Parts: sequence; C-alpha cells; structure tokens
Amino acid sequence: MAFASFILYALLILQFSIGSHGLEMNMIKPEDDQPRHPSPDLSLNVFFKITDLYLGNKIQIYLASNEDSTPTKLLSKEEADSIPFSLSKLPHLLEYFSFSNTSPQAKAMQTTLKQCEVKPIGGEVKTCVTSLKSMMEMTRHFFGTVKPKVLTTKILSSKHTLYQNYTIVEKPKEVNTSKVIACHTMAYPYMVYYCHGHKGHMTRLFKVALGGENKERIDAIAVCHMDTSKWDRDHVSFRILGVRRGSSPVCHVIPVDNIVWFA
Ligand SMILES: *[C@@H]1O[C@H](CO)[C@@H](O)[C@H](O)[C@H]1NC(C)=O
Ligand SMILES: *[C@@H]1O[C@H](CO)[C@@H](O)[C@H](O)[C@H]1NC(C)=O
Repeated sequence: MAFASFILYALLILQFSIGSHGLEMNMIKPEDDQPRHPSPDLSLNVFFKITDLYLGNKIQIYLASNEDSTPTKLLSKEEADSIPFSLSKLPHLLEYFSFSNTSPQAKAMQTTLKQCEVKPIGGEVKTCVTSLKSMMEMTRHFFGTVKPKVLTTKILSSKHTLYQNYTIVEKPKEVNTSKVIACHTMAYPYMVYYCHGHKGHMTRLFKVALGGENKERIDAIAVCHMDTSKWDRDHVSFRILGVRRGSSPVCHVIPVDNIVWFA
C-alpha cells in the first residue's frame, strides 16, 4: 500500500477502535449547522454523515484505489509463522528485509507493529493476521458456529478518479448485522490485515451505489460509527463534517482492498 494512504488507514483504525463499550447509542440529533470543511489533504476527505445517505444526494469523497499501490506479497500461514511479528524484533526484521533504520519502510513497519500490539479495550476484538488462513481462523473464533458473510467496496468502472462528487444512484440499503469485523490492509513488506470489530450495534453497515461525475460506478460499503463520544476530540472527521464529538454518527466508505465480515 502506498505510504500516504497508510497514514489515513492508521488514523481510521486508531480512532475507530476507541469507544466500543457503552452500548448506549447517541441517537441522531438534529444537525448542528456548522459548515463542513473539506481537508486540503484530499485523502482525508472520506467522511460523511448518516443523514447524507439518501437517493439522489451528492457526496464529495476521496476513495483510494488499490491500483496505485504496489501489490503486497501474500504469504502462506507457514511462511508467515516462520517470520517473527513483533515490535521487539524490529531490528532483526529490518535486517531480514534489508531496510535501513531510517527508511520510510522501517517507519511504516514500526507503526504497523505498534498498532498491532495495542491491547483491545472492553468488548472490542482486535488482532492482526498475516495470512488468509489466520484470517479464517480469526473469523471462526469470533463468529463461532455462525458462518459470516463478507463485503467489500467495488469499483465497477475501469477509470477511477480519486476525489470527486458522487451521486447516490440507488436507495442505500442497510445491512442488518449483530457482529461486524473490519479488516484493513497495513503497510508492511507482506500482507498484514488489522482486523477489529465488536458485537452489538455500535456500527451500521450500508450498501451504497455511487455514480461519479466522470460516469464511473462504485458499489460501496459504508460504515457508520454511531457513537463517537469516546473518540479523540480533535478527530479530523469532526472538522470536516462540522460536528462535535458524540453529536452525530460519522460514516466513511470502506476502502477498496479492505474486508468487512459480518453476521
Ligand atoms: C463538488 O461539487 C461542488 C458543488 O458543485 C463543487 O464546489 C466541488 O468542487 C466539487 N468537488 C469536487 C471534488 O469536484
Ligand atoms: C433488517 O431489519 C429490519 C427490521 O428489523 C427489517 O425490516 C429488514 O427487512 C431487514 N433487512 C434485511 C436486508 O434483512
């Protein structure tokens, strides 16, 4: 994954993993009329409000494509398990992958490993997986005997414009869920997914058909975080949407190479 978009993912993950306890949802309050402030860093403009989700509405969002990132090597579980995956082994890992201590790759690996070692907070499930087999094991553990379904965002057109106005071309469909896990790709020399989720109704999932100004079509999966009261007060989404912490759900489209498991 491109390094720049990695920053964004880290930001989404960090902030969204906070506050998964306290099931009491903030119901949708009347909108405060603060103007929105798109960020000059275009890649941060991924957020919208739950009240934006209606047929015919236009939303201006940045949607990363996985085409502009370098393909990441997918390891088998055996291969992945043979390489240490811990922050304490970073010096050894840098040598192993031939990255200098001061390289951007070293910094990205450090951030990923740190992120993966943060302990989950009450009720939250959080784990990093380094192979598809490990991901399947993780979902079996989380969902038990229930077979989870999977959702991803799909770009249906060959030409993709990263930042543009999209019109919602079909009535958004809510996907009923009781358990959700989102797995985000992380910057690392091979495929690492940071998966986190929880049981209950802290998040709502929607299928949203988007039509771009350039006529492209996207079948997007949007997630709305219903309770933002425990997020960082300065979370960039609040400024972009003109809302205060806890006053309104915050939604974003799931990036293209991420995976949402739900039951
Ligand atoms: C979206 O449309 C608005 C109003 O028409 C315009 O001001 C804005 O620049 C457009 N955004 C993008 C990313 O094209
Ligand atoms: C979701 O749940 C609501 C109410 O519980 C129900 O009316 C609706 O049909 C369900 N939607 C799907 C896609 O199952």
